[in-house]
Amino acid sequence: MNVLLIGSGGREHALAWALTASPLLTALYCCPGNAGIAEIATCLPLDAADHEAVIWFCRVHGIGFVVIGPEAPLVSGLADALAAAKIKCFGPSRLAAQLEGSKGYTKDLCREFHIPTAAYERFKDAASAKAYLARQPLPIVVKADGLAAGKGVVVAETRGEAEAHIDACFAGSLGAAGAEVVIEACMVGEEASFFALVDGRDCLALATAQDHKRAGNGDTGPNTGGMGAYSPAPVMTPALVERTMAEIIRPTVAAMAKRGTPFKGVLFAGLMITADGPQLIEYNTRFGDPETQVLMVRLKSDLLAALIATADGVLGTFDLHWHTEAALTVVMAANGYPGTPEKGSEIKGLAEAAKTPGVEIFHAGTRRDGSRLLADGGRVLNVTARGATVAQAQARAYAAIAKIDWPGGFCRSDIGWRAIARGKVP
Ligand code: AMP
Ligand code: GLY
Repeated sequence: MNVLLIGSGGREHALAWALTASPLLTALYCCPGNAGIAEIATCLPLDAADHEAVIWFCRVHGIGFVVIGPEAPLVSGLADALAAAKIKCFGPSRLAAQLEGSKGYTKDLCREFHIPTAAYERFKDAASAKAYLARQPLPIVVKADGLAAGKGVVVAETRGEAEAHIDACFAGSLGAAGAEVVIEACMVGEEASFFALVDGRDCLALATAQDHKRAGNGDTGPNTGGMGAYSPAPVMTPALVERTMAEIIRPTVAAMAKRGTPFKGVLFAGLMITADGPQLIEYNTRFGDPETQVLMVRLKSDLLAALIATADGVLGTFDLHWHTEAALTVVMAANGYPGTPEKGSEIKGLAEAAKTPGVEIFHAGTRRDGSRLLADGGRVLNVTARGATVAQAQARAYAAIAKIDWPGGFCRSDIGWRAIARGKVP
C-alpha cells in the first residue's frame, strides 16, 4: 500500500520510522516532511491546507491511506475531504476534531456527560469574564478557546495576570482562537499524557507517557510544545489506566457517537492525576509530540495495521504489543526557543551520535543545504533511546547528545527526573 503522511515534526519522523517497518507498506510519501524523514520517505512540498491538491496527489500516486499528523489539517476538515473523495485516512472529522479545536466544546461535553474535569465557564466578552474572575479563588486558569499553538493557556497566580490574558485574547492577540475564553479552576497533581486509538465505537489504550512542558531544568521557565518525554509513566498504574478509560475515554467516545460525530483517530487526553483520581485537562485529537517518539520505539506491533484497523472500525478485535523496555526522548531546540528560535545554524556529529546503542534520532525541524544539516525550527532534534529502565534510556540519550556538535541548540539535562526519582523510592 502507498501511504501519505502529513506533517513535518519529530512526531511525523517517528510515525514514518514505524510505518516503514510495516510489511503492508509499499511506498511512503510525506508532506512536507523534514531532512530526517527524507531519508526514509519521499518528501514533497504539498500544502495540506489545499485539500484538492492533497486529493489530486493521492489519485496520481495511488495513495491507499493518508495519516494526518498535526491538528490544523484535522480542524480544517482534511479527513472529511478525503472521505468524500473515497480515500481512506487516519484522523478525525472536522466536527470530531472540535475536541481539540474548541476548549469550550470539550468542557461542555464533559459537563453534559459527567466526565471529570475542572469547574469552568465560557465567555464571549472581557467584562463578563472579569466579573466571573473576581469571584473565583486563585490560582486560576484562563484559556483561549481555539488553537493557539501552546500560547493560549495562562495559569494565573494573580488576578492581574488573569485579566491581562483575558484582555489579550479579546484584543485579538491570538487571532480567532481568542474570540472566546474559558476560565477554569486550577487542578493540583501530576500530569500525564494518555493516548487511545478510537474507531468511532471501540477504543484501545496505548502505552503510557509523560512529557516535560517547561523549557528549563526542574520544570521551570516558559511553557513549550514539550522538551522531552518518557514511557512508561510510573504515575499511570494499571488501575489508573482503567479508571481513565472508564471515566474519561469511553464516555467521550460514546458521547461523540451519540452526538452523531463519532471520533475516529487517536484521542490524546492531557490528564491531571489529582487526589480524587484522573481529571481531564484537555483533549488533543492527534498524537503527542514528543510522546509519539517514545511510544513508537516501544511499539512492537505493526503501526500501519493498527491505524488502518482504526479507520476501518475494527479495533474491537485488535490488540497492540509493546516492548517491556522503557524509552526516553530529549528535545534539542534552537537557541531562542520557545520565543524566536534562531534558524540556519549547522548541526554536526549526528551520524556518530546515532550509533550509540539503543538510540534513534528523530528530526523535528531540520533541512539540508547540500551536505550540511541545518536547524529549521524551534524544536529541532529528538534524541530517543530505549533502555531496561527510564534511567538507562536517559543515560543513553544523553550519551548520544554529548556527540552532537551544535552550538546553536540547547536541551534540558534532566528529562525523566520525576520517573527516575520515583524509581529510587522503595
Ligand atoms: P493545555 O494547553 O490545556 O494542555 O494547558 C497547558 C498546560 O496548562 C497544561 O499542560 C497544564 O500544565 C496547565 N493547565 C491547563 N489547565 C489547567 C488546570 N485546569 N489546572 C491546572 N493546570 C492546568
Ligand atoms: N506534548 C504535548 C503535545 O503534543 O501537545
